[in-house]
Amino acid sequence: MHFDEESKKWDTEYRVQRAKKISTEIENYLDKDNNLRALEFGCGTGLISENLTHRFSDILMMDLSEGMIEQLKLKIEKNKIKNMKTWCGDLFQFNDNKKFDVIYTSMVFHHIEDLPKVIKKLYDLLNKEGKLIVVDLCPDNGGFHDEVQDFSGHNGFKLTEMEGLIEEAGLEVIGSKIFYSGMKKSEGKEQPYQLFSMCGIRK
Ligand SMILES: C[S@@+](CC[C@H](N)C(=O)[O-])C[C@H]1O[C@@H](n2cnc3c(N)ncnc32)[C@H](O)[C@@H]1O
Repeated sequence: MHFDEESKKWDTEYRVQRAKKISTEIENYLDKDNNLRALEFGCGTGLISENLTHRFSDILMMDLSEGMIEQLKLKIEKNKIKNMKTWCGDLFQFNDNKKFDVIYTSMVFHHIEDLPKVIKKLYDLLNKEGKLIVVDLCPDNGGFHDEVQDFSGHNGFKLTEMEGLIEEAGLEVIGSKIFYSGMKKSEGKEQPYQLFSMCGIRK
């Protein structure tokens, strides 16, 4: 997958700075309790969660890309992060007796074709009162993934569309907003884009 190829050069200064904004946005949906079990779905090299380690008792970092997980493992070792574990593989192969209090995911849902199935599985992995926090692209007419060959995902989401998907899975949406405006620079082109956040709770 193309994320394997990109993994070694994923952590650009631009992405590091954007990840800080995204983690602050995720943190805004959390309660004061720091003793919660979290899952980051599609964690990449861990840019988001490395800002959130103090907020959870433990974080499971899940990604399909071996390259991304390899980079993350190096970081965990180098920075001696004690409360982060990794899991590389397909969400539907994941089985654990213990559920999660918080699941968050950033810039992943637009890559997933059968989103209702994935959101339902994430719902199943949540404890009662557990939260699913999603950060993703607003509709962008395809400009964001212009240079990605064979991109078969979504060209962003309207808030109402994501709300429908999350509620269809059984979660109650308790907040959402557009919080970030950025400019993607690639192959000499500039593509403006916006990110939204949304939080659903399992009742
Ligand atoms: C755009 S990157 C975002 C990485 C990270 N969340 C961030 O914001 O820096 C998308 C990540 O989602 C992962 N991914 C895509 N589809 C996935 C799936 N079905 N299950 C798990 N990870 C997936 C990719 O391997 C990649 O690491």
